[in-house]
Amino acid sequence: MNRKVFSKPYGSPGAALRAAAHHAWLAEHTPLRQPELLAVHPERLDFEHIDGRHAGVEDLPTVAAVLGEAHASAWCGDLCRASLNAPHPLPWGHTLPGFAVLRRAVLDRHHRDGLITDEELEAAVDLLRTDPDEPTTFYKDSNPRNILITPAGPTIVDTDDLTLAPFGYDLAKLVVTLAMTHGPIPPAAVTAALTAYNEGVASRTDAPAEVTPSRLLDHAWLHHLLTRPYLGRGGYRYPWPQVRPAPEDLT
Ligand SMILES: Nc1ncnc2c1ncn2[C@@H]1O[C@H](COP(=O)(O)OP(=O)(O)OP(=O)(O)O)[C@@H](O)[C@H]1O
Ligand SMILES: [Mg+2]
Repeated sequence: MNRKVFSKPYGSPGAALRAAAHHAWLAEHTPLRQPELLAVHPERLDFEHIDGRHAGVEDLPTVAAVLGEAHASAWCGDLCRASLNAPHPLPWGHTLPGFAVLRRAVLDRHHRDGLITDEELEAAVDLLRTDPDEPTTFYKDSNPRNILITPAGPTIVDTDDLTLAPFGYDLAKLVVTLAMTHGPIPPAAVTAALTAYNEGVASRTDAPAEVTPSRLLDHAWLHHLLTRPYLGRGGYRYPWPQVRPAPEDLT
């Protein structure tokens, strides 16, 4: 029987190989459901086609639990040896970039382009100044289009961007991009997602501390600044400041 294939083009062989290395590392170190990688071509990857729909607000608790478990699993199996801001080795000579350097470069570019103010840059740089001993996990761009909901559960696609990140950072990406796509999310739903995430983390290890609501909102603010140029594209219709929950509503 012919399998349905999803082919993804890349701008260079290096970009295709990097995404393949990310896919292999996630398969080795996390229980995340991913499409099988069927073939690697110089500028194209062929994946198993997944029949599913993009994640929605109603999927937040399920996806949050899956992310928490995956983040803890990666921490236990590999990233407990990583340092948040130092590149971490991956298969085939690739590395997972550190957290702060790439983001600082993007923020500087947005600042130069007039997309973020002096004050916003200063606040963001403060948020990037994390404790070097903070437990480290990964970020894989958890926007709703990169999570396909299937009868078997959430399947994650798009391994192009993978970096080191603090716990909770990837969940914040999902919360921000869902709200930017669909409008305000009830605070109780954000709190429930954070609880499900922390429970997912705790199911694998008790080492990394719980992510607090205020830390989640700090991560969300960084995502808002980094994502600002994409407002109006990719389904992002609402600016985060218009749809974010008030800190006092997250208990
Ligand atoms: N293996 C797959 N099977 C079925 N559909 C897929 C698969 N991989 C990706 N898709 C669909 O194609 C869309 C685009 O793929 P992908 O996310 O890899 O590219 P992208 O350039 O990052 O696009 P976007 O910015 O929309 O996320 C995904 O949102 C998803 O709907
Ligand atoms: Mg994508």
